[in-house]
Amino acid sequence: MTDTSQSTGIDNNARKPRKRGFILHLHPALLPKDAILFNRTFGLGGMAALLFVIQAFTGILLRFVYEPSAEKAYESILFIQQNIIFGQLVRNIHHWSGIFFVIITFLHLLRTFYSQAFFTPRRINWVIGVGLLLTVTLSNFTGYLLPWDQLAYWAITVSTSILEYIPVAGTWLMNIVRGGNEVGSATLLNFYTLHTGIMPVILITLMVFHFWRVRKAKGIALPGNMKEMEKVPGNPNLVMKELVVGLVLIAFILFLSVFLNAPLLEKANPAFSPNPAKAPWYFMGMQELLLHFHPIFAGVIIPFVFFIGMFYLPYVSYSDSRPGYWFGSEQGKKMAIRSAILALIITPLAILADEYLLDFEGWMKGIPILISNGLIPFILLLFTITGYIILIKKRYKASKIEWIIALFTVIVVSYSVLTVIGIWFRGPGMNFMLPWEIN
Ligand code: HEM
Ligand code: HEM
Repeated sequence: MTDTSQSTGIDNNARKPRKRGFILHLHPALLPKDAILFNRTFGLGGMAALLFVIQAFTGILLRFVYEPSAEKAYESILFIQQNIIFGQLVRNIHHWSGIFFVIITFLHLLRTFYSQAFFTPRRINWVIGVGLLLTVTLSNFTGYLLPWDQLAYWAITVSTSILEYIPVAGTWLMNIVRGGNEVGSATLLNFYTLHTGIMPVILITLMVFHFWRVRKAKGIALPGNMKEMEKVPGNPNLVMKELVVGLVLIAFILFLSVFLNAPLLEKANPAFSPNPAKAPWYFMGMQELLLHFHPIFAGVIIPFVFFIGMFYLPYVSYSDSRPGYWFGSEQGKKMAIRSAILALIITPLAILADEYLLDFEGWMKGIPILISNGLIPFILLLFTITGYIILIKKRYKASKIEWIIALFTVIVVSYSVLTVIGIWFRGPGMNFMLPWEIN
């Protein structure tokens, strides 16, 4: 073979992709130099994939001993912790990575949203992504019941009771999920089957499709013309970076799991409800919302409208789409920062106002609660949001994508504030309290 490097001046070894293997098969042989910059993806998609592998591995180990029945589940967890070598550690890893899986997947969603990666040809991958976020959350949710302690039992009781508010089919749906009208043995078996069988299969299917679509879209969204970008081999440039991110993540989870045990309260007691009974942390924002709106609005209509919007997001027609550009433009970035600050101030104020000043139910005695505490506050909320969008369109000449960025930011920050208040500022009777006043 003739060596062309001398005549062209280019080192052939640097350009030629190294040998392929299973891991390498997931990566393109050559990819734009900018695509491997850490701050393009923060490695979040890869971390989510690794967390799934950790969950599957530790989950299978736990399955060897865990017994999915109301009589034996709690004892089998105690047995895992006390009698199995590294049992406590494996349970801790499964517990903490389960939490990180939800958080990292959500951060990855934020990354793809703000780096404007949901336009064609990545539209379908955004939709699969939203499906993945729902499945990851449901995976965590179905695992939440399995330890069968007071925390698990009442969190699932509180959360599944929201299903009852779905019009027409609510009670029927709740009874199907619970396998009866109360959380009991049948619920545990339902959740176990979903958690260790159905959810992992759905996750794997969606992930395979997701990765394939990333390859089909010729990698991640980058600003500028891909064809003109300098290319480097995927191996070792990208593979090594992923390896480092993966090892740091594993080290972090191991460190946490060695020093911090997964919680386990006393065995589930259906006759004694703790006060307050709280939902799993990712649903606490919704539980907080339930204190301010009628359940049909807080638990059904608002989440439903939000997720319809999320699925539909890439199919809106945009005249100014700029895939790969963070926040689309400088103004988009300003909109996001201002909206975040606004939501950070307004949400706690609105919660305090509803707590101490507003009393729609009391002011409109005789009117059904669905209207006084549901429709009217909901319409007020819609007015405020619409007013905000009109304001930024007029004042800053915000384009469609810019006001969508602003709206999305308001929703994400508000939900985060609701979650923090629900977790740390609600004591007995779900009354508003400062964290140090609780207990
Ligand atoms: C892929 C296969 C999986 C299997 C076979 C599996 C298996 C199990 C088993 C047997 C338990 C009961 C043991 C215990 O509670 O400590 C459990 C609990 C749990 N699982 Fe999984 N799991 C899998 C995936 C996942 C995923 C993807 C998530 C999160 C997104 C997750 C989150 C949880 C949580 C939060 C618990 C309760 C942990 C605790 O606090 O004790 N699991 N899982
Ligand atoms: C189990 C959960 C998920 C896994 C394992 C996963 C994995 C990945 C990976 C490895 C990539 C390649 C680029 C990167 O690492 O950022 C990617 C890209 C992408 N993901 Fe995910 N993802 C998950 C959930 C989601 C969610 C919740 C969304 C959004 C709703 C989403 C939307 C996208 C989009 C739009 C891309 C293309 C990004 C670009 O071109 O810049 N994914 N995903």
